[in-house]
Amino acid sequence: MELNESTKLAKARENIIQKAKQHALFKNVEKTKGHIVFGRGEDSAKIIFMGEAPGFSENEKGKPFVGRSGALLELWVKHIGLGEKDYAVINSVPIIPLDEEGKIRPPAPEEINYFFDATKKIIDEINPEILVLLGKSAARAFNLEDMRVGEVREHIGKKFMFIYHPAYYLRNGKKGLEDAEKIKTAIEKHAGQKKQLNLRNF
Ligand code: URA
Repeated sequence: MELNESTKLAKARENIIQKAKQHALFKNVEKTKGHIVFGRGEDSAKIIFMGEAPGFSENEKGKPFVGRSGALLELWVKHIGLGEKDYAVINSVPIIPLDEEGKIRPPAPEEINYFFDATKKIIDEINPEILVLLGKSAARAFNLEDMRVGEVREHIGKKFMFIYHPAYYLRNGKKGLEDAEKIKTAIEKHAGQKKQLNLRNF
């Protein structure tokens, strides 16, 4: 069962869609004939990767991380040895943020805050072992901007890990596999108490 079709998450999905339709950002969906982007992966996921906001590919397809950043995230996931059912992917903001010229921009703190409760409902429903924050916007959503790459922190009763956004590695011509391995270390050290996780060797 994919996150987008999950009955368990139906209420959380409806909630975020309703909120999204009431926000000024929704005009971007209308203008581009795009989508409000909910999530992908499994509702029983042990790991949630949380990114920033949909890009053009995601806006078109209605799923998060299906463009270049998504390809790098998938490489990390394979490298770490996570199975398809082990993880889900969500964003801090479910709508593509565009500037006046129609160029993509990072979401504003107010936009991240506006969607925070709705995003947290999704996380609470899935109740993962670890929430991996991909970059500044995801960290900002939880007031965890001071986290360092690879750090694991307990906060509001959940375990968080921070790593730069895949787009950061792409911009710097890197794959970020060494940092991705820190996700594996964090999972091995901190996860597995609630849900069984069997990572393959890389
Ligand atoms: N970057 C993000 O943060 N999220 C996506 O869904 C795609 C790119």
